[in-house]
Amino acid sequence: MSVPTDPRRDAPAFHRNVAPIREVLLEFLGGRGGDVLEIGAGTGQHAVAFSAALPELRWWPTDAGATQLDSIDAWRLHDGGSNLQAPFTLDAAASDWHLQSHGLAAELTAIISLNVVHISPWRVSEGLFAGAGRSLAADGLLILYGPFSRDGAHTAASNAAFDADLRRRDPDWGIRDTADLQALASAHGLELNRIEPMPANNFTLVFARKQENSDRDAVQRR
Ligand SMILES: C[S@@+](CC[C@H](N)C(=O)[O-])C[C@H]1O[C@@H](n2cnc3c(N)ncnc32)[C@H](O)[C@@H]1O
Repeated sequence: MSVPTDPRRDAPAFHRNVAPIREVLLEFLGGRGGDVLEIGAGTGQHAVAFSAALPELRWWPTDAGATQLDSIDAWRLHDGGSNLQAPFTLDAAASDWHLQSHGLAAELTAIISLNVVHISPWRVSEGLFAGAGRSLAADGLLILYGPFSRDGAHTAASNAAFDADLRRRDPDWGIRDTADLQALASAHGLELNRIEPMPANNFTLVFARKQENSDRDAVQRR
């Protein structure tokens, strides 16, 4: 008789990055209610940790992969709180995410995507920003975490090497540049409001809806 395998996956990087990312999320989302959509939730470990830290929010983890969805749901059933929703399939590159058919509010408090845009084709970034433009509330936020280059330059030699490795593995992958993401954001009515340096040469980028007469120099560059 075969022993059933545990579908819960473990991402070693999760244990290193969960605390600093949680701190940033608490700053931006602490005290807020509503729905948060997580794109490319992977193992589901972040969804469990962040939904626990932000109990006023309903947390909706999604991914494009079946193995990932199994892991997310297994973590949810094992450790998740009542605000952590069941995961569903979402391809960020799709032109319509059909969020309301899954029970999400028409206007989201936030969309979060960690370590996704560099390890997927550019059309996934395009879909992500288009979806944020369609789905975020007026004060909603799009929050990205991962390695990014800034205005065309890598911020560390290790990121340059990582970028080259990604592009060797798949020419459509690669570390995305903040200027390219700002242009994409702008096309969908969003602007980059915060670039938060994170450990291990990563960044958290926070995009919000463009304000009337907004000043591009308002981006806090640390
Ligand atoms: C490097 S993993 C990051 C997982 C998790 N967010 C983390 O930081 O541990 C990238 C994730 O993006 C997902 N992904 C790739 N392409 C996607 C797409 N088109 N739409 C949604 N998710 C996608 C993968 O299935 C995978 O779970």
